[in-house]
Amino acid sequence: MAITMEQLLATLKATGEETRLRILALFKNGELTVTELVSVLRQSQPRISRHLRLLCEAGLLERHREGTWIFYRLAYGSEQAKLIKSIMNFCPYDDQILQHDQERLVEVKRERDKKAAEYFEENAKNWDKIRSSYVPEKQVEDFLLEEIKGKKIDDLLDVGTGTGRMLELFSSYTKHGIGIDLSREMLAIARSHLEQNDIDHMHVRQGDMYDLALSDHSIDLVIFHQVLHFADDPLAAIKETARILRNDGCVIIVDFLPHKIEKLREEYAHRRLGFSNSEVSEWCVATDLKITKTEVMKGRELDIGIWIAHKNQKSI
Ligand SMILES: C[S@@+](CC[C@H](N)C(=O)[O-])C[C@H]1O[C@@H](n2cnc3c(N)ncnc32)[C@H](O)[C@@H]1O
Repeated sequence: MAITMEQLLATLKATGEETRLRILALFKNGELTVTELVSVLRQSQPRISRHLRLLCEAGLLERHREGTWIFYRLAYGSEQAKLIKSIMNFCPYDDQILQHDQERLVEVKRERDKKAAEYFEENAKNWDKIRSSYVPEKQVEDFLLEEIKGKKIDDLLDVGTGTGRMLELFSSYTKHGIGIDLSREMLAIARSHLEQNDIDHMHVRQGDMYDLALSDHSIDLVIFHQVLHFADDPLAAIKETARILRNDGCVIIVDFLPHKIEKLREEYAHRRLGFSNSEVSEWCVATDLKITKTEVMKGRELDIGIWIAHKNQKSI
């Protein structure tokens, strides 16, 4: 459907103001909260909130509330979303003001990542215990093994491998596996687990889920087990995953369903309070993956979602 005159005018009006254009330029990658935008733009919260409201009303940004945090991101899928994407292609990102904003955004993100990294550094030794207190582990793991039964997995990637539990679990069914993680402390534990269990066809290395440093079409199965709720930009991570998946390759996402346990942000460095089916579906639609199965598992305090998606719609 073509854009209406009214929508076009609303988009141009909303975009045609310096602060709002600066805000839109900051959404090049991922989602941001009001607090983060305030830190980058150094304007008052009510002012930024007013601009955000206007951008949402014009259909250029979308917002979702999770507990006390509200996340904003560029609209997706609508005619206005397509229009704003095209307009932003003309944005002079080398302009001094915009460049300065990008630099401050990098700082704000670095500060946030530092907190998460410190959390994993401090908690690497206790991670297996922490995970099992929130996740019905046995049930999830039995389900995953049942899913891959009889399937040929030459190359597996475990993203955010932590202490390497998924590498151990899948080791008997995989020819070769890699686990990547940002945290050296987590990787050190993963390495020693693999060694203790004589698993020498699964390796770990430091790596970033947004830039996997792997060739296109090189992996059959990618696992995100309890990782994406730490991510700034889950869609970008799924995009990078779709790139390295072979045709018919599979991605398994295990994460919390939406919840309200706010303390997980402060105490456990979670960025997101779980994900809904529709959000995971949006990532998959945007990256040409097709969800072939979803499963819900009841935990003691939190429910777990398992999403299985394939590239090019067939099964592995
Ligand atoms: C909650 S732990 C999960 C570990 C493991 N998958 C498990 O289920 O036990 C999340 C892991 O993601 C890692 N991580 C966070 N951001 C990352 C990124 N951008 N790239 C790679 N790993 C990341 C953290 O260092 C941490 O070890």
